[in-house]
Amino acid sequence: MKVLGIDIGGSAFKGAPVDTKTGRLLAERHRVEIESPCALATGVAAVREIVRHFDWQGPVGIGFPAIIRDGKIGAVGNLGQVWEQQNGVTLFRRATKGPVKIINDADAAGLAEMKFGVGRGRQDTVLLLTFGTGIGSALFHHGQLFPNAELGHIPWRGKPMERYASAAVRKRAHLEWREWAVRVNVYLGVVERLLSPELIIIGGGVSKKSEKWFSYLKANAKIMPAHLHNDAGIVGAALAGE
Ligand code: BGC
Repeated sequence: MKVLGIDIGGSAFKGAPVDTKTGRLLAERHRVEIESPCALATGVAAVREIVRHFDWQGPVGIGFPAIIRDGKIGAVGNLGQVWEQQNGVTLFRRATKGPVKIINDADAAGLAEMKFGVGRGRQDTVLLLTFGTGIGSALFHHGQLFPNAELGHIPWRGKPMERYASAAVRKRAHLEWREWAVRVNVYLGVVERLLSPELIIIGGGVSKKSEKWFSYLKANAKIMPAHLHNDAGIVGAALAGE
């Protein structure tokens, strides 16, 4: 099946048509930059632009950086509070010509990696973490997703841990890769103590640059970059849109 997958993040909306049988992108992805906090109209317009770019008429799957239940947006991390309690399906349906389904962005990336990437066939506990504007998490056991595991929001020194160890913090605080990896290790230590995953898959844009920082990481679990790198979010959103 062909589904337009859209991955919404704190700094850009990215989309591409996806073949959900193979997990392949059917065209180069299209990116629309936004700033957080992002107004509702700006977000809807960004989705509209992606739909227009591909002249897309079919189903659309959207990965959104918040708790998502039955299409409804719950607590939001970085995109802004105006999104909270909105019905994401109704909202984005204004911008598409086909049906819309919506899922948490990290859950989407996790689904893609479990189906087409390094999590394929795994029955043990697998945790996918995406490092971007925030930290997203998707937790699997026996291949089943535990939805909306917001592990970037574990409190650390009075703030969510994503404000201490996300990829955006590395840039904002001008940290060397090694310095940032020390923070990521603190984070990994906390999540490992809580969940004991056998495999931790690292996604987000920084997964493409694993040679710069993976050698500094320390964990009991096996750590691997997402096979689909930053496309995992788009592919998983498309899977959710089937
Ligand atoms: C949000 C999560 C999201 C993560 C990555 C966090 O701020 O609360 O829902 O998965 O950022 O985008």
